[in-house]
This record gives sequence, structure tokens and C-alpha cells, in this order.
Amino acid sequence: MAVEKKTEKKTLIFNAHLVDKQTDADGAILISGGLIEAVFLGDYTAEEKARALAPDAELFNAEGRTLMPSFIDMHVHFRYPGQTQKEDLDTGLASAAAGGFGTVVLMPNTLPVVSSAQLAAQIKAEAESRGLCEVFQTMSLTRDFSGKDTTHLDDIDSEKIPVITEDGRDVASAAVMREAMEKAAQNGVIVSCHSEDVALAQAAKPYRAEALALRKRGGAEGAEIEEKIDENLRQANALLALAEDTATERNIEIARSAGCRVHIAHCSTARSIDAVRRAKAEGMTVTAEVTPHHFALTADSREGLRAIVNPPLRSEDDRRALIEALRDGTADVISTDHAPHTAADKESGSPGFVGLETAFAAANTVLVKEACFSLSKVSALMSANPAEILGLNKGLLRPSLRADLVLVDEDEAWTVHGADGKSKGKATVFEGKTLTGKVHATWFGGRLVFRG
Ligand code: NCD
Ligand code: ZN
Repeated sequence: MAVEKKTEKKTLIFNAHLVDKQTDADGAILISGGLIEAVFLGDYTAEEKARALAPDAELFNAEGRTLMPSFIDMHVHFRYPGQTQKEDLDTGLASAAAGGFGTVVLMPNTLPVVSSAQLAAQIKAEAESRGLCEVFQTMSLTRDFSGKDTTHLDDIDSEKIPVITEDGRDVASAAVMREAMEKAAQNGVIVSCHSEDVALAQAAKPYRAEALALRKRGGAEGAEIEEKIDENLRQANALLALAEDTATERNIEIARSAGCRVHIAHCSTARSIDAVRRAKAEGMTVTAEVTPHHFALTADSREGLRAIVNPPLRSEDDRRALIEALRDGTADVISTDHAPHTAADKESGSPGFVGLETAFAAANTVLVKEACFSLSKVSALMSANPAEILGLNKGLLRPSLRADLVLVDEDEAWTVHGADGKSKGKATVFEGKTLTGKVHATWFGGRLVFRG
């Protein structure tokens, strides 16, 4: 019997608008063996014309929608191991695929804390075995978040662990932070900083606790209680702004002294992003991320003030500064800080919201439709730039790169309902809001992993 050569089926996505950091044109993309085989620019609306490009390929009609490189998220919490009541690998990865993400960087604030290369490798392997997304697992800056011991970083391998972080908190001691950053510098690892002065964050806690207690009491006193709740939250936020501003400066200065690559996570204030701008002007290797919630929403409304998240939503001036930083290149990437919690945990004040499934829509609505960014710029912020920071050969529509692709409708409006999402976390800061821009399909390594 003749041995039949197994040929992998090719796919041609035609009738598409192609957008990446460098491209904004109509065209078609041929996928083969998990990679982008060819990018065709031109009008391939007609099926016959498309078929002539690759007669043996399966056709996928994009119906005029926009095909982009999948998004890359440098800040995600999947809560595995140890907190899978909030999220698990299956729901987290399904949420990533539904949001158009092909790469995620997982934070180490799990149970136990990820403080060994072995645990990180195990989580990565388990997550990637699902075939939905490329996954990088960060390790903590101090062992088990002790705030003291950095011996677990002695021979860290940047190929396996490109990023380390204490996310969820900062490292209180500047001396310990310096030790961690020196080890990162020696091994070529990026230090992602949750910049928040520990003592000031501690000082903010009673205000948040008081707001929560007042909210639970609720009832008779009405407007007066509501105003007291808001006043407590304003006090907390003022302390948390100072905590971010001072810690961002500190972390940049320590990184400068250690000579390490530093990434400022979830920049939320005008002053902290300006510290990044100054450091960049001085030639430092510093990068920064901004989350969709911080560039889309503010604490100026009661609803925004009461959204419990770290860092908190800020003022309209801060929000505008973040948008200008994204525009002028001070902020390099959009990261979601996808932080799922159970409904009960949200009730009792756990900070954070899900974000993977609304990230593109928020960026498209606020940055493209309102602030007049090009969609290419958004693609740079969500794909090409994070790929470059992480040293990944992806994030562009280019032959020989992995076929991690997302098909979006730039003009489709939809109303966010957390309950409809794939994540276990149902609390979204965009609940009930109408956003423009919808993810319709996601391919990972050429395989269709989401169809919406
Ligand atoms: C994050 C979480 O829940 O793990 N919460 C949040 O409010 N952002 C921690 C973090 O990213 O700081
Ligand atoms: Zn954080």
C-alpha cells in the first residue's frame, strides 16, 4: 500500500482588511503549517479571485472585517494554582481566546506564590497543552513574597522566564529590590514593577475598609452615608496616588542603579507616566503599560470611584495624560491586568476586574474612535510592542511568523455584560457600557480557537 504523504490543509482568509503596526490595507492571508505563508495586498473580495491565490486551500471569508495579529497581554491573573474558584486555566484561556489574545504573561500571586522555575515551567506546560495561547509564567521578585529572600533568582533563565514581578504588591525594601534587580540585570530578565509604596498602601486600607463597612450597613441614613463612603474612597485614592508616584520614581532609580530592564505595570497617574517619560529621555531602558480601564474610565463619577481596583481609577487629567503617553510612545503597551474574583470576593472588597474580553473594544472605542489613534497604532500597542519587549518573533502580519491572528469588526457596537464572558470572574468595570469593536475569530498557530 502506498504511503500517503500527510499534507496539512492550508487556509486562505480572504475578503479582509489587514492591519498591523505597519499595514493598513485590503488583502488576504494564507496560513500553512501553523505559520503565515503569504500576505496578499489588494482587493480579494471575490471568492474566485481569492481561490486563484491558493487553489488547494480551504477558504475563510472575512466578510470585509479586519484581520490583525493576535494581541499579547503582559499582565494577566489566571489564579492557578490555588485560587481556581476565581479562574482556572480553562476559563482563563477561553477568555483570552475570546478577547483575541495569542500570548499572555501570567502573574505569580497565586497559592503558592510562583517562586521557582520548576513551578513556572509546570504552569506554562499545562496551560500551553490546551493549544489556545502561548503562555509565559512570571516568578516573584522575593521568595514566596517574603520581601527578603532573592536566592531563587540566582540563575534564572530569561528564555524560560522573561519577566519577574511581585505583582499584587511592591517590594517594601529598596535594598531588596536592588538585589532582585541586579540579579535580573545579570540574567537579562525584565522586572515588571507593581509600583505602590507599601506603607502608603497600608495607610489607605482603613479608608477602603470603612467605605466597605458603610456600604454593608447601608439603609436609613441615605445620602449622608453615600457621601461618607465616597469621602473614604477619595482619601484612600489620594494615598494610593502618592504611593504610586513615589514608588514609580523609586523603582526607576533602583533599576537605573542596577542596570536592569524595568517595566512599569499599570501606570495610572500623570506623574508616574511622566517619570517614565523622563527616564526614557535620559536613555534608560524602561517600558510601561497602561490598562484599558485607566485610559477609558475615571473616579470622577460615583460609579468609577466605587470601582475597587489597584491602582484605582484616577482623574480625568490623569486619564488624558495616559492617552497622550500611549500616543507619544511613553507608554509602550496596553495590558489588561485581567484580575478575576468570585462575586463574594468582590463583595468583600477584593480589588480588580476581568479585562481580556473587553480590551480590544475599549482600545478601539477610546483610542481610535475618540482620541483619533490609527488602528495600526493600537496594533502596535497590543501586539508588536509587547512582542518586541518580550523578544518574541510575532505581533505582525508577516510571512514565516506564527499564524496567531484575530478578526475584528471595528464598527460593531455591543453592550458589555460580565455574565456573558468566558472568564469565571464576572465583575467587569465596563458592565452595561456600550463599546465599539468586536472580536469575531481568533486563530492560534493557524487553528481557529474562537468564533464569536
Ligand atoms: C490584582 C489581583 O487581583 O491579583 N488586583 C488588582 O486590583 N489589579 C493585583 C494587581 O495587579 O495588582
Ligand atoms: Zn499590580
